[in-house]
Amino acid sequence: MDNKFSPSWIEMRQAYDMQARSGLLIEYLSTVSKTQKINLLDLYCGSGSFLAWLIKNNINYKKYVLVDYDTKLLKKIKKNIRSVIKPSHKIRSNTNNLDLIIKKNEDTVSKVEIKKNDCNKYKHNNDKYHLISFSAVLDLMSKSTINNLLKKVQSDCPLYLSLCFNGKVKWTPSNTMDKYILSFFNNHQRSDKGFGLALGSKSIEYISNKANKADLTVTIKNAPWVIKNLSEKDKIFMKRYILDTKKSLFHMEGIDRNILKLWHEQKKYEIENKKISLYVGHNDILIQQK
Ligand SMILES: C[S@@+](CC[C@H](N)C(=O)[O-])C[C@H]1O[C@@H](n2cnc3c(N)ncnc32)[C@H](O)[C@@H]1O
Repeated sequence: MDNKFSPSWIEMRQAYDMQARSGLLIEYLSTVSKTQKINLLDLYCGSGSFLAWLIKNNINYKKYVLVDYDTKLLKKIKKNIRSVIKPSHKIRSNTNNLDLIIKKNEDTVSKVEIKKNDCNKYKHNNDKYHLISFSAVLDLMSKSTINNLLKKVQSDCPLYLSLCFNGKVKWTPSNTMDKYILSFFNNHQRSDKGFGLALGSKSIEYISNKANKADLTVTIKNAPWVIKNLSEKDKIFMKRYILDTKKSLFHMEGIDRNILKLWHEQKKYEIENKKISLYVGHNDILIQQK
């Protein structure tokens, strides 16, 4: 099964992700000492969308370690960071690997270690981290992956799961087919995405319950995409969103393809004519020891 993610889709969504991310992590960091901003591990990092958001928001860890198994995406991290660093900062690359150094004048502000690895098997027991992050990936995970992930929480190392899809998609105005399409879409999110059977939007309730039972504190904030269809970029993004929805549901058992095609045609028309806006629900989740 090919679980590679489309680089063009990940690139396209980054601007919307950037706007959607909540202030939950910033609030948490305002309560901790400087020593808790040393090492950050970002698993399933893709092209570094979360790192770009951190840097844009002046959240400077001394070392960021980013892990993903897709080299194509990892190679895009440098460009992504370059687009958000301050004019006074520079990025230096290491010629032997993908690693980067962010400098201000000759001083190192942060190091970025980029590792091509299978995160499901990635062992980091000997390295000390002060935050472990997962962006746009919780809904792809199975129960056992989530159970293992919760074992990583330590007193000075919370987990931060951002942009977790929560199953809510709202079109304004809506039509009679939206509910039908969304129920198939949410079922589709519960197929195998490379982690065993994914929980889709139910992953949020699952991880919250498990964390509460393990006596951990869970804090959740909304982080939706709100796309008003005001620009050409919005239009292109929404059209891609409905096309990908159509493609992923097309071969699902039980789906009425005529309804799917009609839904797609109608949405396309409404998007082209700027008659519609889109809300896609995500949650940011912080899990920490009490
Ligand atoms: C939806 S993307 C999210 C990427 C990124 N975190 C973001 O917010 O844009 C999911 C990412 O998980 C990665 N991935 C999936 N399974 C993986 C595994 N077993 N090991 C490493 N990376 C994996 C994919 O390559 C992809 O980059």
